[in-house]
Amino acid sequence: MLLKLENVHKSFFTGNPQKKRVVLDGIDLELVQGETVAILGPSGSGKSTLLNIIGALDRQDSGEIFFNGRSMAELNEKQLTQFRNREIGFIFQLHHLLPQCTVLENVLLPAVPVRDPGYRAECLNRAYDLIREVGLWEQRDQHPNVLSGGESQRVAVIRALINRPGLLLADEPTGSLDQKNVLSILSLLLKLNDEYNASLIVVTHSMEIASRMGRIYELRNGKFLNTR
Ligand SMILES: Nc1ncnc2c1ncn2[C@@H]1O[C@H](COP(=O)(O)OP(=O)(O)OP(=O)(O)O)[C@@H](O)[C@H]1O
Ligand SMILES: [Mg+2]
Repeated sequence: MLLKLENVHKSFFTGNPQKKRVVLDGIDLELVQGETVAILGPSGSGKSTLLNIIGALDRQDSGEIFFNGRSMAELNEKQLTQFRNREIGFIFQLHHLLPQCTVLENVLLPAVPVRDPGYRAECLNRAYDLIREVGLWEQRDQHPNVLSGGESQRVAVIRALINRPGLLLADEPTGSLDQKNVLSILSLLLKLNDEYNASLIVVTHSMEIASRMGRIYELRNGKFLNTR
């Protein structure tokens, strides 16, 4: 089992300190290596919250999460950082590109902590390939401030692939893309799944993307409805 969520709950404080807003109300999920899942749900239903918790960027209030059989609660800060860097790729809803870095440098960011020169060379080659594949070759030395929203999104997508993560968490990876680019990102994700058996958890409003995932869940009132 790659990933297991057991009865995960999360609430946030609202403006009223007496009242918490329950966002996740008992989420269970089991994912073996190579499985793909789409998560649908209305705005504010907790999709990003759930991905952030799976990616160890936020913590659940209760419930347990296991990655490769190991409880995430047992990991110390250093191990959590390693987990975020090596085991998962995260495509954020807001792209979170570093403005001071070029496209190429942004794509290479997750590989920066790895010191091995051989691995770095491999990542550089992979970055070049990925940049070409999403049609950003001409822009590779430019900074994010001159990119369009869709171009930034494509950079965010390929940055998440640079370390070939076993689990890719994608928060609306095609949100501001046109049809042609939706298809190019979709094929990139499916290729990752196909060639490296990477698992995908994709939050999306696109039925085109959702229908290509093995399972589809809808997040409603803090719970998963299994729609397929
Ligand atoms: N740090 C926080 N503090 C307080 N409330 C939060 C926090 N993060 C999220 N929320 C609230 O939790 C709810 C779920 O937010 P979340 O971002 O997970 O929704 P979403 O399903 O990703 O929505 P969208 O489709 O618009 O991206 C929202 O009501 C949001 O206001
Ligand atoms: Mg969201």
